[in-house]
Amino acid sequence: PTECTLAVIKPDTSEELREKILEEIQVAGFTISQQKEMILSNEMAEEFYTQHSDKPFFNQLVDYMCRGPCTMLILSKEDAVQEWRMMMGPADPSMAKETAPGSLRARFAKDILENIVHGSSSLHHAQEEIQLIFGGFSTKSQVMST
Ligand code: CMP
Repeated sequence: PTECTLAVIKPDTSEELREKILEEIQVAGFTISQQKEMILSNEMAEEFYTQHSDKPFFNQLVDYMCRGPCTMLILSKEDAVQEWRMMMGPADPSMAKETAPGSLRARFAKDILENIVHGSSSLHHAQEEIQLIFGGFSTKSQVMST
């Protein structure tokens, strides 16, 4: 089935790398239904990663995500949730290099925290994350802003 997922290009990604990732997303056959740059507030980042709030790396993760602008994308494609996760590779780049050498994280991530991209982990999370990040957007507001 055609699905939507939320993809995030995380802060501290160079302009050049961001453009490269956006191009690879399109070459892979995803449609970018919505795109915006935004700086997450602490509160939003905490909400976004609420399922990790008990993890030892939670505060570092929130700091990282608020450090600069994120590129927020709604991607649609057949099996988009799983397809985008495959394209990212595992969270830990050293693992990614072994198991998915062509993936974005294998090629570009710095470490397990600063791993450059995010993707929803399930269709359910995708709906929640899209609501949180793009909740104010509707087809109508998109038409009106052009
Ligand atoms: P993401 O796919 O956005 O989902 C949760 C994020 O937490 C993950 O990418 C990493 O940025 C971060 N993360 C996951 N595991 C660890 C870890 N063991 N140490 C530090 N950061 C982590």
